[in-house]
Amino acid sequence: MVLRRLSLRGFRNYKVLDVDLSEGVTLFSGSNAQGKTNLLEGIYALSAGRSFRAAKDSEMVGWGEEAAWAKGWVSGGYSEFTVSLSVSSAGRKTARLNDVEKIRPSELSDRLNAVAFIPDDLDLVKGSPAARRKFLDLQISQLSPVYRQTLSVYSRTVLQKNALLKNYHEMPDAPRLLDIFNEGLVKEGSLLVKMRSDAVDAFAPLAADTYAYIADSGEGLEVTYVPSVEVGHRPDLGSVREAFARKLATHRAAEIARGACLVGPQRDDLGLSVGGRTASNFGSQGQQRTAVISLKLAEAEVITASRGEAPVVLLDDVLSELDEGRRQRLIRRFLGRCQTVITATDAEYAFSMPGCLSYRVTQGEVGPA
Ligand SMILES: Nc1ncnc2c1ncn2[C@@H]1O[C@H](COP(=O)(O)OP(=O)(O)OP(=O)(O)O)[C@@H](O)[C@H]1O
Ligand SMILES: [Mg+2]
Repeated sequence: MVLRRLSLRGFRNYKVLDVDLSEGVTLFSGSNAQGKTNLLEGIYALSAGRSFRAAKDSEMVGWGEEAAWAKGWVSGGYSEFTVSLSVSSAGRKTARLNDVEKIRPSELSDRLNAVAFIPDDLDLVKGSPAARRKFLDLQISQLSPVYRQTLSVYSRTVLQKNALLKNYHEMPDAPRLLDIFNEGLVKEGSLLVKMRSDAVDAFAPLAADTYAYIADSGEGLEVTYVPSVEVGHRPDLGSVREAFARKLATHRAAEIARGACLVGPQRDDLGLSVGGRTASNFGSQGQQRTAVISLKLAEAEVITASRGEAPVVLLDDVLSELDEGRRQRLIRRFLGRCQTVITATDAEYAFSMPGCLSYRVTQGEVGPA
């Protein structure tokens, strides 16, 4: 799919922006704090219905504005359509298809897919398991409404069970309630485990391949699924259910004593290693960055395979951190495969990208480079 045109109104530091994008690579260059990341955030919000960095979506509303609004003109498959998202300063979000049809903001990803790499994404390697779970969840949710729904029900049940465990000894009927919650967790959680396991299976070899290509060395990136409920390789749903139910039973007393949930996919992790060593502990800056980019690019390939259309790839400030060889190979890997929008402080990069459309960003305005 191709995002042909983007409009922003009252979005971060953009009062009014209307800009055409290339089918290939579009480069937005500019000094620090001019609005480069904000622009990518606008595109991302049109695909995910939420910001890629703000804790609260209302942070996207320009200071002094009542609402932020973004709209994209998309050519996908055999159709042309528009998607739009408005966010009020109170945080109310409205998403629309073709200006009229209201859809849920999370359903925007059924229309437009984007994969973003922003510097914060280094948390995927360096941060806690929560960052890696979020990556998995976002990736699978983009492609599966069933996963989105299951994750939402599962997360709600975890909250309810935690509340019960906290006041377990004061609650009447607590043992029976705990049984009911555990039954729900096994039902929904096992599906999450199965879908996560399948997803990692699909993208781990793609990530390894991309890493080897960009790094141009023998060292490999290994991605593994590390579930809280131990299951074998390619588990079937029945065996996940049994393993999860068993683990809940053996941890029942401990959960009551601790007053919190101790097992389940809310405690899963992804293992990332480069050349056989844990990337967070032993990877260099460049290796960690290349690992995260490879994960994101693998995500783009999974989306392409599943949708039959490539997502828009958003790369925020990645070029400057890579050596010339890695930079060239990253660009070569993407030219002609996905529509790519790149930001950089240096406009010179345009010369290494044939056919690149290049803009300059200055204080929330976009002009020719
Ligand atoms: N809600 C908002 N309303 C108005 N301006 C905002 C809002 N949020 C952030 N800004 C401002 O937008 C400006 C541009 O931010 P942005 O992160 O896009 O910069 P950038 O061009 O990516 O810079 P860098 O090269 O440093 O990453 C910043 O000066 C920031 O203070
Ligand atoms: Mg930035």
